[in-house]
Amino acid sequence: MKKLVVLTGAGISAESGIPTFRDAGGLWEGHRVEDVASPEGWHRNPELVLDFYNQRRKKAREVQPNRGHLVLAQLEDHFNVVIVTQNVDDLHERAGSSTIIHLHGSLFESRSTADEKLIYPISGWELNVGDVCEKGSQLRPNIVWFGELVPMIEVAARHVSEADIFLVVGTSLHVYPAAGLIHETGYDVPKFLVDPNAADWPGISNLTVIRDKASTGMELVKAKLLELI
Ligand code: APR
Repeated sequence: MKKLVVLTGAGISAESGIPTFRDAGGLWEGHRVEDVASPEGWHRNPELVLDFYNQRRKKAREVQPNRGHLVLAQLEDHFNVVIVTQNVDDLHERAGSSTIIHLHGSLFESRSTADEKLIYPISGWELNVGDVCEKGSQLRPNIVWFGELVPMIEVAARHVSEADIFLVVGTSLHVYPAAGLIHETGYDVPKFLVDPNAADWPGISNLTVIRDKASTGMELVKAKLLELI
């Protein structure tokens, strides 16, 4: 089977009811990104940060995968699919995809502030001040914040460099290093971009841009991908 590597962003979860980031006028659910998604914000006000992610987690548990997630899962019948997602929700997992790299971490994991290797599942929706790791240190969301290193980027880049086909769905490609992954693809590799507001990418070879929502756009892409088997 050919290897299909897919980079997804907030746009693929938009039709499930999870708002994207940059469509919201620079505010993220009413907060400045640096207040709720940076090490400095955490240092200043951990309660605010924990509450922000508690609300995101609660919301993510209430919504369902949409057609875009489901079509990606179905593509495993025809391709060796690796999903690299910037999203911290679990909608790809719940849609049935089997290989998912969460570049920016997961809403459903906490990690120790004393030892970043201590990672725990969050089964409910709340993480609070006073919830500690086995070493007694406060737990934080296992999410990659602005200014932090992206531990999975090298694994993701290796997959992208091995891709026979590369697909990007629902990301503004504003945030690095994720946005740079497209440059790891081979020149001849067919590339597809599904996003209703996709920019032109004149420097990218073999690129097909589908300006459509993830749900309908993924059906169109699926038809094009099946021609490449
Ligand atoms: N289907 C597909 N794409 C959509 C849809 C939809 N229904 N609705 C909106 N979009 C597109 C927008 O046009 C935009 O290009 O989704 C993209 C969302 O872009 P961003 O809000 O910037 O989200 P993303 O690219 O995932 O952000 C990257 O930034 O805030 C950080 O860590 C956070 O992972 C996030 C990263």
